[in-house]
Amino acid sequence: MSNSIVVELIDVHKTYRLGRVEIHALRGVNLRIGKRAFISIMGPSGSGKTTLLNIIGTLDKPTKGKVLIDGVDITKLSDKELTRLRREKIGFVFQFHNLIPVLTALENVVLPMIIASVPREERLKRAKYLLKLVGLEDRMDHRPSELSGGEQQRVAIARALANKPSLILADEPTGELDTENSELVMKIFREAIVEESATAIVVTHNPLVSRLTDKIYYLRDGKIVNEEIIKK
Ligand SMILES: Nc1ncnc2c1ncn2[C@@H]1O[C@H](COP(=O)(O)OP(=O)(O)O)[C@@H](O)[C@H]1O
Ligand SMILES: [Mg+2]
Repeated sequence: MSNSIVVELIDVHKTYRLGRVEIHALRGVNLRIGKRAFISIMGPSGSGKTTLLNIIGTLDKPTKGKVLIDGVDITKLSDKELTRLRREKIGFVFQFHNLIPVLTALENVVLPMIIASVPREERLKRAKYLLKLVGLEDRMDHRPSELSGGEQQRVAIARALANKPSLILADEPTGELDTENSELVMKIFREAIVEESATAIVVTHNPLVSRLTDKIYYLRDGKIVNEEIIKK
């Protein structure tokens, strides 16, 4: 059973300290997410969504509790081991795409594979495949400024998939998009899960977006207060 669980959080707390003030961003989160799951985390602003996603993505550490990725407790790993795990297993998509403006769509998707020492032929082939997957085969030579917001976000998704992550983490990926582009982006996440056997966690405060996933976890004041399976 346990090998089908990609992410497990056990009683995760996160307290930020600002001078003498303590902010309890997470107050005991328990979560188990299986392989190939497509889930969303919904909650109002300040409920701890970004903190939770950053902890799952090893960008931040919990104050208390355990975080297991593929059965490994990441709170016990060194910074070097964390960097490696992040590079090999996790693909991030943010609200603002963070593409490199001087690079073309193709070059932006190739970049993480250069960092991971993927051979030239192979990385070009994969980047083209991924841009085709997100419907941008005829936009590969465009720079981000020559693409629409929705297209830029699709390039960012292709980039996140470059190193075949088992886990895709997206923080408000449709925050800047209209309904049509939001639906398209969510459809691409689903295709990526199927084609790449990945798991995706999407953070959003948009109910229309969360309903396009298979399961919604509701976060409030740093706690999961409800979960809902979406019927198809
Ligand atoms: N680096 C930080 N330092 C101090 N407080 C923080 C920090 N990051 C987030 N917080 C606080 O933690 C709470 C949860 O924030 P966040 O995870 O960003 O929520 P959300 O993404 O749901 O809007 C908020 O009260 C926020 O102000
Ligand atoms: Mg946030």
